[in-house]
Amino acid sequence: MKITDALLAEHTVFHSLFECVEKQLTTPLSIERLHLLAELLLGLFEKHGKAEHDLLLPPLEPFLHEIGHLENFHKEDDIIIEMLRQVQEGDNAAFAHQKMLKMLHLANEHFDKEERCIFPLAEKHISEASLEELGAAWALRKDLSPVKPRTNP
Ligand SMILES: [Fe+2]
Ligand SMILES: [Fe+2]
Repeated sequence: MKITDALLAEHTVFHSLFECVEKQLTTPLSIERLHLLAELLLGLFEKHGKAEHDLLLPPLEPFLHEIGHLENFHKEDDIIIEMLRQVQEGDNAAFAHQKMLKMLHLANEHFDKEERCIFPLAEKHISEASLEELGAAWALRKDLSPVKPRTNP
């Protein structure tokens, strides 16, 4: 699987999670519930962002200027992570609620940018074989290497 397809598949999961969290945020939530939501998103988001930064960005770096306004791109994952940490560590439910809404807004924008600009740029400049290799490295991190068929005793 190409790394771009793997990351895109993860985005699909995030979109569903964000939708679900957004629905929950239409009513006031307890701080405990907000902590729980932040913890859930943080764990997944840190792994996703790290895979992008470690695997996809290095070979893509020389081409990032093509799509401009990419100064912030590197920082956005870190900002989102920081916002989730603030929710997780806060004790004021109203503040945490607002922070969570802002985080969702930024995360949706960030994902949209990656889907419209970053992943297509990777597909344009990185060979299919290299994208597959990076995809294999991604799967290895998650221990998703193909299951070997069982041999009968
Ligand atoms: Fe990202
Ligand atoms: Fe992403």
